[in-house]
Amino acid sequence: MLREITLDLVRVTEAAALVSSMYLGRGDKEAVDRAAVDAMRGMLDYISMKATVVIGEGEKDEAPMLYIGEKVGTWEPASPEYDIAVDPVDGTRLVAFGLPNAISVLAAAEKGAIMYLPTFYSWKLAVGPELAGKLDINVSIAENLKKASEVLGVKISEITVVVLNRDRHRTIIEEIREAGARIKLISDGDVAAAIATAIPGSGVDIYMGIGGSPEAILSAAALRCLGGEIQTKLWPYNEEEKEEVISAGYDLGKVYKTEDLVGGEDIVFVATGITTGDFLGGVKYFKNKVITESIAMRVKSRTVRKIVAYHDVEHKNVPLRSRGGDVRFIELQR
Ligand code: FBP
Repeated sequence: MLREITLDLVRVTEAAALVSSMYLGRGDKEAVDRAAVDAMRGMLDYISMKATVVIGEGEKDEAPMLYIGEKVGTWEPASPEYDIAVDPVDGTRLVAFGLPNAISVLAAAEKGAIMYLPTFYSWKLAVGPELAGKLDINVSIAENLKKASEVLGVKISEITVVVLNRDRHRTIIEEIREAGARIKLISDGDVAAAIATAIPGSGVDIYMGIGGSPEAILSAAALRCLGGEIQTKLWPYNEEEKEEVISAGYDLGKVYKTEDLVGGEDIVFVATGITTGDFLGGVKYFKNKVITESIAMRVKSRTVRKIVAYHDVEHKNVPLRSRGGDVRFIELQR
């Protein structure tokens, strides 16, 4: 049961957030990612499980760590087997430039429950529980917004849609504006945006647009815990990728729903804020404490926990795989 190791998994995203946030605003997104991956991997080494990374930093030949297929955890013979999806930092640029909404994320599920989307990008439409099952990725934006206003009982002008600020979204943005909804354009970090749709009081109703496929899977895991929904379609970014996925037997018209992306019931989702965002505070320093804010939730119970941790700078250790285990936090600061 993943329930028993939920807090251990929170420690994984906490460690990634703590270490990567040391590079806040330094303009070096590779350093942000490297630090998070190292800490995430170091902490995973301590967890009593046989886990396989199914969504990670990429294929083995392009990602030296947390690559797809990498085994993590202690792998003791009696420990349970899981598949895990990770994004050590969703929004590396956000951290590199000190911008909001960067999070460290991990989802764990039964073996075989997490799908792999073969394209780099996917079309996504994410909503919270009230709109779950009510919108359709295949109809026009105007129709979806009209439906959303009916279901939510508000004017279209009171609905907020989040979209990644990219040239590829010019038409979508125009259509949302024409329909009269509010738009929040974000520079990065669409996992946080998708999750925010299901967090009461976040001020976000719908997330739509084309973003990373691994991020769609992680969003699906979170939305399953929160009773929200994500609809996804493959979006090949060039002819070569298009031919590849078609010849591999994928249907570009198929809509992958939340349960298709992450199935089963034993699913845990955890995230820690790196920079402050719509539903999680970022890593903050206060006197001799470093404060982290995390969220931990499970599909089975639908319990959503917020965990605020006060790490004592003098006593805190962070495991780094590159250093073979625990390193004093204070040492990393120098
Ligand atoms: P990284 O943290 O890996 O840089 O991803 C950030 C992100 O904004 C994701 O949240 C989003 O899904 C994806 O990049 C969008 O990709 P692109 O920047 O290529 O449009």
